[in-house]
Amino acid sequence: MNIVAFNSSPRDNQTSKTELLLQKFLAGARQAGAATETLYLREYRIKYCLGCFACWLHNKGQCLQQDDMTGELLTHFLEADLAVLASPLYHFNMNARMKSFLERTSPMLEPSSTHNGGRTGHPFRVARPPQIVALSVCAFPENYNFQALSLNMRMLFGTNLVAEIYRHSSEFLTIPELQPQVEKVLAAVVQAGAELVRQGKISPDTMHALTRDLAPQETLIQMANNYWREEMEKEEGHSPPPVDDDLVDKYV
Ligand SMILES: Cc1cc2nc3c(=O)[nH]c(=O)nc-3n(C[C@H](O)[C@H](O)[C@H](O)COP(=O)(O)O)c2cc1C
Repeated sequence: MNIVAFNSSPRDNQTSKTELLLQKFLAGARQAGAATETLYLREYRIKYCLGCFACWLHNKGQCLQQDDMTGELLTHFLEADLAVLASPLYHFNMNARMKSFLERTSPMLEPSSTHNGGRTGHPFRVARPPQIVALSVCAFPENYNFQALSLNMRMLFGTNLVAEIYRHSSEFLTIPELQPQVEKVLAAVVQAGAELVRQGKISPDTMHALTRDLAPQETLIQMANNYWREEMEKEEGHSPPPVDDDLVDKYV
């Protein structure tokens, strides 16, 4: 199985909790025999969809715009057996970079509409579109936060969506005193990757282990509030750090 992961976090790989979870999932998939590749959307030029439908009317599945989406990313996406769409949760949904990426996959669809079971959609232009795994992390301590993202993913990909890996309390995953619990969560993410490749699905036990609480929710909220208070006190009277130009999206 050829797995291509698309990580849309703007953070560097040492800081990104999306990356932490994604690499555990891919490690499990590799243990089960899959080949994996990770593409970081922050390193690519992805322009907004123009809504011109030239990809349907004139270009037969090719976007008019010349950028990394036309050149490389869409090809990688379509050639994968399984694509992992890994985004941090922003405002209860995928972040804007992932949304731009997905909007630019419209060339893979046909203009015609089909109607099945009360739902209208566009058929895929390609014979074998990739299966999809949605992966996300959020800072708040409940998986309730992923409801809108999950609905969005199910509506977008239907039966092609084969798994959803959603992990709450993301910013606590690197807190030293919580490591015994964190290790169990991360082991479950590795297990999830292996199970998906071997069995085509993730067992309820693994999903349960993957979403377990690291500590009572009230404790986590108190820790978060203490953290931000202390950080704000440290920053008082200091100017913000200079903006890292590499992290600023210059292309949209
Ligand atoms: C603009 C923005 C919006 C966010 N929205 C949410 C949210 O709706 N719910 C939540 O629990 N966390 C939210 N977060 C927190 C991130 O999901 C969390 O910090 C996550 O670990 C970021 O992933 P990353 O480390 O891979 O970049 C938000 C963070 C940012 C910067």
